[in-house]
Amino acid sequence: MIIALTGQKGGAGKSTTAIGLAVAAVERAHRVLLVDAHGDIQRSALMVADIAVLPCGPSAADAWALTATLDVIGEARTLREHLKACVLITRKQGRTALGKGARDVLAASGLPVLSTELGFRVAYQEAIAAGRGPTTFSPRDAAASEIRNLLDELEILFYGQETSGCYATQAAAG
Ligand SMILES: Nc1ncnc2c1ncn2[C@@H]1O[C@H](COP(=O)(O)OP(=O)(O)OP(=O)(O)O)[C@@H](O)[C@H]1O
Ligand SMILES: [Mg+2]
Repeated sequence: MIIALTGQKGGAGKSTTAIGLAVAAVERAHRVLLVDAHGDIQRSALMVADIAVLPCGPSAADAWALTATLDVIGEARTLREHLKACVLITRKQGRTALGKGARDVLAASGLPVLSTELGFRVAYQEAIAAGRGPTTFSPRDAAASEIRNLLDELEILFYGQETSGCYATQAAAG
C-alpha cells in the first residue's frame, strides 16, 4: 500500500502524520519505506500512490488552501482513475467543530473526509523530537490511538480490512 500525504500548504501535518503512520505500520510488521519530499516530488508521488491523504487543519482558511491540491489530485486522476483520495482533519483543538465554511469547501471538493481526526496534541511534537512516533513514544496517549485508527481506516480503504489492531470509528468527522 502506497500512501501519499500530500498538499501544498506548509505545516499542515504531512510529515508528522507520515512518520506516525510509518512507525505504527512497522509495529504491525509491515516493511516500510518513508520518503519526505517537497515540491514537484509530491506530484510524482501521486503517480505511484494507492491513496492520497490530504491533511487539512480545522479552519475554513485551511480548507480553502486545499483547492490548489485538489487540482493536482484531479490531474493525477485523469491518468490514474483508481487513485483514492481523501481529506484528513488534523490539528483539531479541543472540541471545536469544523467550521461551516470549511465543511462547505470540503463537501464541494467531492473528496471523502476520513472518520479519524487527529487532535492538536503535544505528543505528536514530542514523539518527533525523540525520533519516534506517538505509538512507540507514548502508546497510551490519544495521539497513539488516533494514529492506529488512521492506519486501520486506510487499511480498510485499501485492503477491505485492517491487518491488525482494533478499528474504532471516531466521532463524526467534519
Ligand atoms: N496533530 C498535531 N498536533 C500538534 N502539532 C502538530 C500536529 N501535526 C503537526 N504538528 C506540528 O505542526 C508543525 C508542522 O507539521 P509538519 O512538519 O508535519 O507539517 P508539513 O505539512 O510536513 O509541513 P511542510 O509542508 O513544511 O513539510 C510541526 O511543528 C509539528 O510538530
Ligand atoms: Mg513536511
